[in-house]
Amino acid sequence: KETDTDMYYTVIAEAGESQIMPGQKTKTWGYNQPLLGKTIIFKRGKNIHVTVKNELSELTTYHWHGLNVPGDIDGGCHTPVYPGESKVLNFKCDQPAATLWLHAHPCPSTAEQVWHGLATAVVVKDEHEASLPLPRNYGVDDIPLILQDRKFHEDNQWDYHADYDPDGVQGPTAMINGTVNPYFDVTTQKVRFRILDGANRREWRLHFSDNLSFTQIAGDGSLLEHPVKFTHLMLTCAERAEIVVDFSNYKPGDEVTLYSDDVPIVHFRIHEFAKDDSTLPDKLFKLNAPEITPDTPVHKIIMSGMDEEVAINDKKFNMQRIDSKQTLGSCEIWEITNSNDCDGGMIHPYHMHGCQFQVLSRNGKAPYPNETGLKDTIAVDPNETVKIKVWFDHTGVFMYHCHIIEHEDGGMMAQIEVQ
Ligand code: C2O
Ligand code: CU
Ligand code: CU
Repeated sequence: KETDTDMYYTVIAEAGESQIMPGQKTKTWGYNQPLLGKTIIFKRGKNIHVTVKNELSELTTYHWHGLNVPGDIDGGCHTPVYPGESKVLNFKCDQPAATLWLHAHPCPSTAEQVWHGLATAVVVKDEHEASLPLPRNYGVDDIPLILQDRKFHEDNQWDYHADYDPDGVQGPTAMINGTVNPYFDVTTQKVRFRILDGANRREWRLHFSDNLSFTQIAGDGSLLEHPVKFTHLMLTCAERAEIVVDFSNYKPGDEVTLYSDDVPIVHFRIHEFAKDDSTLPDKLFKLNAPEITPDTPVHKIIMSGMDEEVAINDKKFNMQRIDSKQTLGSCEIWEITNSNDCDGGMIHPYHMHGCQFQVLSRNGKAPYPNETGLKDTIAVDPNETVKIKVWFDHTGVFMYHCHIIEHEDGGMMAQIEVQ
């Protein structure tokens, strides 16, 4: 329901069964449906009211990944919703247009609940984005792609515990929007894809058949300052990229394929479409971050280890312990180091709740051209230090952690109190 000033939603976490593979249905979890959920759309400036309800047999939380909201709305480990319980979340949506997501976050079973299917896309709309010539006809030329992977065991069931790996659970089968081997009917020359790496551990190295190039227009928390053209794009866990693909070189009957490495993950069937000569704007977004001065405090974070040894600044997560503090509106530089070494060390996708940050540098060099907008998750390579600028618009306790979800559950997480 929507009025001029308010928007109302109900989000029910429930268990069900989904026809993903031929044959037996898979036992799955989702929001208002058996697996994943419909995209939730918020409009900037509106008062949002979400009734969250838990119909599962265990506690869960509703974490709005990327949303700038107070700590008690954010849905981290401190806000459980018990089986049978419901809660109303009231907040104002006030941040730039972006693709965010909702997922479960009970510590330490975030990874298992997300694996069961508790994740869905959240889109924030605003007037600035609406004024730009970009595809935004949802379901026609504006399509979410939630990339996940699963292993199907006997009778097509998932078995999180059998597949458990402290460095992140993976499966050999790509699951896109809860489906395997999907195709999409292309009926417009340009299509915008809002891609989310919703996997527990997997990185996706995306490219199209024929080396078709595409243009990235947005990252995690906003449009990019300028569009960037690529043929290959890597996403680590929880990162988002909005891309626009121009299919003008194809004719009805052609097929284009999206791959991750050499695995085909989505097929695009080209249909008749009208010619579209519009060009993407060269300026998409202006990031307004607070200034830094020589006195801006520098906060150092070291993500270390692999498997059960993972830690942040040599500590494992403790819900009772506040690891850092920052005042509302103040700006700090955070230096995030991955102390794994390059041989076989893992990338840790570093994520912060309750804020969107600006990427300043990678090992002292400029960030990548698709890191010019706001971000909430950033890949930190082995032996790399990434500097980011961090400020908060709301008070509360917020977690920050590696978004390989098993690393997070394994203790590679800490929390900040913003006052
Ligand atoms: Cu995607 Cu702590 O979250
Ligand atoms: Cu988050
Ligand atoms: Cu990690």
